[in-house]
Amino acid sequence: MSAAALALEEPHVLAGPYEPGAPATAPAVSAPMTAADIPQVIELLRAAAQAAYCEWEDERLLSGHLAHSSDLCRVIRTSSGRVVAALLAGSFGVRGSISHAVVDPGHRRLGLARVLAVDTLAAFRRRGVNRIFLAVLDGNEAATGLWTGVGFRPALGERTFECDL
Ligand SMILES: CC(C)(COP(=O)(O)OP(=O)(O)OC[C@H]1O[C@@H](n2cnc3c(N)ncnc32)[C@H](O)[C@@H]1OP(=O)(O)O)[C@@H](O)C(=O)NCCC(=O)NCCS
Repeated sequence: MSAAALALEEPHVLAGPYEPGAPATAPAVSAPMTAADIPQVIELLRAAAQAAYCEWEDERLLSGHLAHSSDLCRVIRTSSGRVVAALLAGSFGVRGSISHAVVDPGHRRLGLARVLAVDTLAAFRRRGVNRIFLAVLDGNEAATGLWTGVGFRPALGERTFECDL
């Protein structure tokens, strides 16, 4: 069985939202992102240079994206409703793409990004989308550990091309 398949089978979907200060074994629960979350998500992304947020990814664009992709865009909120972790992803039907993941600096190394990653991969699988792409900046060891830990591998023999419009 692949590492990705193993990760997707981990039991982690439990009763309530994330409780700061709870024992390390307490599970976090991710939820589909809503339009109301977007300002907090943008704030988290802006504060983390390695998330590679672009200013044109504004509230209007993101809320339009959520209209058809809220299962792929997920957040973890504290019990008071504060967004402390977010992941943005999308699909054009046959391939998936994860564009951003970010966790509030005060809530890192608690497994929150891993919960988001596993839940988003499960959502892709439910859609029948079985190949997912993402980019990690050179030297971002945290992101490399996160994504390889849920089954991603470097795409050997490929280069990423992009075009800003
Ligand atoms: C990358 C990031 C999202 C990880 O969030 P997190 O909630 O702290 O990650 P998790 O606790 O779920 O850790 C999952 C795995 O990622 C890796 N990891 C996370 N932080 C790490 C660090 N500082 N150094 C090395 N590996 C790290 C580990 O392999 C970890 O598994 P382990 O705890 O079993 O060792 C977070 O550091 C972040 O927001 N960074 C800035 C934005 C960014 O780089 N986004 C990624 C863009 S692709």
